[in-house]
Amino acid sequence: MERNEVFIPAALQARVRAAQGPWLVTGAAGFIGSNLVETLLRLDQQVIGLDNFATGYQHNLDEVREVVGPDAWSRFRFIEGDIRAFEDCQAACAGVAHVLHQAALGSVPRSIEDPLATHAANATGFLNMLTAARDAGVSSFTYAASSSTYGDEPTLPKVEDRIGRPLSPYAATKLINEIYAEVYARCYGFRAIGLRYFNVFGRRQDPDGAYAAVIPQWIASLIRGDDLFINGDGETTRDFCHVANAVQANLLAALSADEARDRVYNVAVGQRTSLNQLFDLLVGGLREQGVNYDRRPVYRDFRAGDVRHSLADIALAAKHLGYAPTHTIADGLHDAMPWYLQFIARQAG
Ligand SMILES: NC(=O)c1ccc[n+]([C@@H]2O[C@H](COP(=O)([O-])OP(=O)(O)OC[C@H]3O[C@@H](n4cnc5c(N)ncnc54)[C@H](O)[C@@H]3O)[C@@H](O)[C@H]2O)c1
Repeated sequence: MERNEVFIPAALQARVRAAQGPWLVTGAAGFIGSNLVETLLRLDQQVIGLDNFATGYQHNLDEVREVVGPDAWSRFRFIEGDIRAFEDCQAACAGVAHVLHQAALGSVPRSIEDPLATHAANATGFLNMLTAARDAGVSSFTYAASSSTYGDEPTLPKVEDRIGRPLSPYAATKLINEIYAEVYARCYGFRAIGLRYFNVFGRRQDPDGAYAAVIPQWIASLIRGDDLFINGDGETTRDFCHVANAVQANLLAALSADEARDRVYNVAVGQRTSLNQLFDLLVGGLREQGVNYDRRPVYRDFRAGDVRHSLADIALAAKHLGYAPTHTIADGLHDAMPWYLQFIARQAG
């Protein structure tokens, strides 16, 4: 599980080290949240984490403790709490300088099966966090938006101001987040930044369960020698974005100038990979790690609510935030694969 280096650019590391905290990371026990916590602790920051373990894990936090060491870990305070409860959001926001709001129920299919649960966490929980952060007078509020907001808009690449109609309850909640953020700027002068993530992947992303994302689910299937399923013909494309890029975007957003606020930004790489190409990349990458998978994928029906193609224009984030992705999909897989090999070996052992 070793990773000694911070995976964001040196100039940004220096800015974060010089920043005035504390930082609040919601969804701290989840995939992106735990990577944010790890990075901030490595950069000498005081960090508060909030999570209710709905889809996050204690083992993610345990791993962060292990890799950052006891000194850094002593600067972390965890609150087991729920963003659906306004008082939990108030308690978490007290005295905080920067909020990185990641907590939500991810997954399009989950939201189709249980729209009420998705709405409660993603829409009500978001409004609770936005209000608590406004009341606490935080200096910045950065939140996880989503590329699903592009919905049925067919244009590629996706540019921030051209969105279509949402295709799932999940997408609807993420659009509601953006609308509330805009309204809070207009009504209260509270200027948030939304980051529209495009298929983020990397270590600590959950490979298991019905709602697992494609990359960790496939890596796990390949390592375990299970059947691997492709929804549709495999020519569906995504702009896969390693978590290092998402961490970078969050830290840049939190420390950005006022003119960059009250906007949403695409966070991706600007490269398109089909599911068939992804399969080949994963099989090839694992072969280099000594894992051979000689089966073909099993093709099945397209999944409801999924968009067919996704590719980001990242010029706006580059211009206003100075965002420059450091990891292509290949770099990201190179980082993630050894982690999954260890993780799955531990599970099996
Ligand atoms: N991973 C991606 O590709 C991707 C893409 C677009 C948007 N996003 C968004 O990024 C954010 C982080 O996603 P992730 O991939 O790390 O998922 P994740 O499931 O690993 O993390 C989400 C965390 O939020 C916590 N949480 C959920 N409901 C909560 C509640 N009511 N109160 C407190 N905590 C709660 C979960 O327990 C979990 O730890 C989410 O908002 C998600 O919608 C992710």
